[in-house]
Amino acid sequence: MMNDIFSVEKRIAIITGGMGQLGTQYAKTLLGHNAKVAVFDININKKNNYFVSQMNNRCLKLYRVDITKKSSIAQALIKTVKDLGKPSILINNAALDVAPALRSEASSAFEDYPERIWNKTLQVNLTGMFLACQVVGGYMAKNNGGSIINISSIYGNISPDQRIYKYRAKKGKPFFKPVSYAATKAGVINLSRYLATYWADKKVRVNTLSLGGVFNNQDKEFLREYARRVPMARMAKEFEYNGAILFLASDASSYMTGSNIIIDGGFTAW
Ligand SMILES: NC(=O)c1ccc[n+]([C@@H]2O[C@H](COP(=O)([O-])OP(=O)(O)OC[C@H]3O[C@@H](n4cnc5c(N)ncnc54)[C@H](O)[C@@H]3O)[C@@H](O)[C@H]2O)c1
Repeated sequence: MMNDIFSVEKRIAIITGGMGQLGTQYAKTLLGHNAKVAVFDININKKNNYFVSQMNNRCLKLYRVDITKKSSIAQALIKTVKDLGKPSILINNAALDVAPALRSEASSAFEDYPERIWNKTLQVNLTGMFLACQVVGGYMAKNNGGSIINISSIYGNISPDQRIYKYRAKKGKPFFKPVSYAATKAGVINLSRYLATYWADKKVRVNTLSLGGVFNNQDKEFLREYARRVPMARMAKEFEYNGAILFLASDASSYMTGSNIIIDGGFTAW
């Protein structure tokens, strides 16, 4: 039988923010392909149906980890190695964003954007990713290498199109896609390139996966405005990035490092 170039069988993957909407999809995909998965999340959500259904799965471990604390990541790495084995896949997926349905100072105009929220976003989206790379990537560099997948966004590649959110201002509830999200997601792309060259001789591959918006029961007006901006005229379904995750995690992408895959229904092509 032909070898499966997408195989991740028996490999150990760490997913930061693995309890969230997309992290759950990545865990499901990797477990479904016989990998072992350690979720590092600050909030172990006991109501997540998928993880509840996997309670007795010995290939899955959930650890409460704050990625902004190096010691928290280091302790969970020691547990992962003990419970599952040596990790060779790291998906840096945890991040702070703000959904358009929410009215908060985190979506205020640039001129009023609170420095506190800017700093908090940098701390999680960039410093947290930097620390996870230091601890887990550093471990991989000493232990036969691996694949690191850093999650960015269309808004790390281009500026947010604030016209999508204009309908909010008309309703008296202005919303701006935050500058801190765009700036940190752009930082992710060059953090990946930096580490790709730094660790190339250690067999640690580092790539960025940039995503377009995902359907998550947003309000009708938002969905209409977003769809108008996308050549494929819709948001992504939450499972539509799983193929890219499997590609980047497996040997199918063995010659790829320092790259940025953009999957966005054509958003950045317009
Ligand atoms: N959903 C989208 O439309 C979309 C679009 C483009 C990019 N992305 C990116 O995909 C990734 C996942 O998005 P999502 O929609 O699944 O988000 P989500 O909010 O559902 O999940 C994020 C997870 O990160 C965890 N987290 C937050 N702070 C943490 C910390 N300090 N330490 C450890 N874990 C922490 C949260 O508890 C949560 O489980 C993010 O990087 C996001 O920017 C999402």
